[in-house]
Amino acid sequence: MKTTDTTVLDEPKIHEPTDQAVIEPAIESRPRPATGIKEAKIYIDGKFYSEANAKVSVLDHGLLYGDGIFEGIRFYNGRVFRLEEHLHRLWDSARSICLEIPMPMRDMTEAVLETIRQNHLRDGYIRLLVTRGIGNLGLNPAQCKHPSVIIIAATIALYHENIYRKGLTIVTCATRRSNPAALNPAVKSLNYLNNVMARIEANLAGADEALMLNDAGNVAECTADNVFIIKRGQIFTPPITAGALRGITRSIVFEIAGELGIKIMEADITRHDVFIADECFLTGTAAEIVPVVKADGRLIGNSKPGPITARTIARFHAMTHETGTPIFV
Ligand SMILES: Cc1ncc(COP(=O)(O)O)c(C=O)c1O
Repeated sequence: MKTTDTTVLDEPKIHEPTDQAVIEPAIESRPRPATGIKEAKIYIDGKFYSEANAKVSVLDHGLLYGDGIFEGIRFYNGRVFRLEEHLHRLWDSARSICLEIPMPMRDMTEAVLETIRQNHLRDGYIRLLVTRGIGNLGLNPAQCKHPSVIIIAATIALYHENIYRKGLTIVTCATRRSNPAALNPAVKSLNYLNNVMARIEANLAGADEALMLNDAGNVAECTADNVFIIKRGQIFTPPITAGALRGITRSIVFEIAGELGIKIMEADITRHDVFIADECFLTGTAAEIVPVVKADGRLIGNSKPGPITARTIARFHAMTHETGTPIFV
């Protein structure tokens, strides 16, 4: 594995870099290579470029308007985890914004696998983007005739391992999750300013993550993670209609709860429910499953990651290492 760089995504004071590269692409300025890979190969529209030469036009509407879609995908132990689900969600996002992905899904599968092979990785993270493509300065997407596909492989550990052991802190932010009538959070679009605004609030408050509410004042999700709480042995998470992304890790938690015989359900959740929860955790491809031990200054449960969270994490890790689309066949 060509992991060489140690770059930091999050609060450096809390999340010290490990031997593994620690990356949340595009949040902080950091030493190159940003992918954490020496001599990284980045896929753009069928060709591979070095990190320094991987460039897009300033007239791409992905840059000018955040007009495009993306997926964050992990691979473990030589297999891509839940690749099919990620590609189906990418195609759903594309359909919703009338963007035609310029290749069939099986070619995209092969492009993702080949990008990983080119970077000689067995474990890591893929950022897959489809931009609207080059247009003029007007926002009309009809100007953009050729969407671009970009695939970046990186090494990633979102948080320091201490965070997984001890749990993280969240604060409720004033920035509301986008109203689905304005921009549906179910579309994983390149326009993440809503989430970035929330993340800025968490940074300013010295918290690890921001809890985002919807217009009704119910919990939607965190800036890049779904939220779960546990009360009296049952797991609850906000419904998609509350403004949560249909997270792939979220769906895995439903599978795991089924296997473990733990009751799990979607429900509207308030801040109060979070404060009085026995346990709380966040899920996301990049973050995986991470316990929350403090919300708005209130300790959750006994302020340590709880037993259901721990069992869910253990089963999740087993699944990530045992299943997936083989990269090297
Ligand atoms: C806003 C948002 N919510 C939730 C998630 C978690 O989704 P998944 O588990 O599919 O990565 C993500 C990350 O993709 C996200 O960006």
